[in-house]
Amino acid sequence: MQNQLDKVKEKCLLCEKCSLCKTRTNIVFDDGFANSKLMLIGEAPGFYEDQQGKPFVGKAGQLLDKIFASVGLTRNEHVYICNTLKCRPPENRNPLPEEKEACWEYLKAQIDIIKPKIILLCGNVAVQSILPNIGGITKIRGKWYQGGDVVHGAKLMPIFHPSYLLRNDSREKGSPKWLMWQDIQEIKREYDKL
Ligand code: URA
Repeated sequence: MQNQLDKVKEKCLLCEKCSLCKTRTNIVFDDGFANSKLMLIGEAPGFYEDQQGKPFVGKAGQLLDKIFASVGLTRNEHVYICNTLKCRPPENRNPLPEEKEACWEYLKAQIDIIKPKIILLCGNVAVQSILPNIGGITKIRGKWYQGGDVVHGAKLMPIFHPSYLLRNDSREKGSPKWLMWQDIQEIKREYDKL
């Protein structure tokens, strides 16, 4: 499995399919446990990810690790983490359609190799890449969706992006953070059944 991932990564390292190749410092391919039943797909690398070549290492990533840790999951032992885009968009702007299209082959290859049983779609960009036209994250988060052939029948759950949680600090009942804690507990219950 690692061999297969390495091959895709090698190709990705040379990628010039979209203009983000001109501004990237590093390709941000993946992190975590490749043999996992649980995969998380985020949006795109930010400043720190671009610098370090690793997904979710900035503030949002630290919060993500805490959310997983609250139910006893760690990225090294339990979760395979990657992004919709492997290169940072300048100033962290939203990915363009042509960038998502160019990068899809790498994300698809990662899904095909890992064949996770559960995929967490973290934020709207990730949701759109796998469940297009399903609606905004606020309505669909925390619900299970049955994935088709493209994800090998994995169960899909849209969740809030940790950057959104960083901008909404309340922990009151019904707040985004509170909802995220409900969602991660539901995810852990499903994970424990696998
Ligand atoms: N946000 C993402 O969606 N992915 C990262 O890797 C970092 C921040």
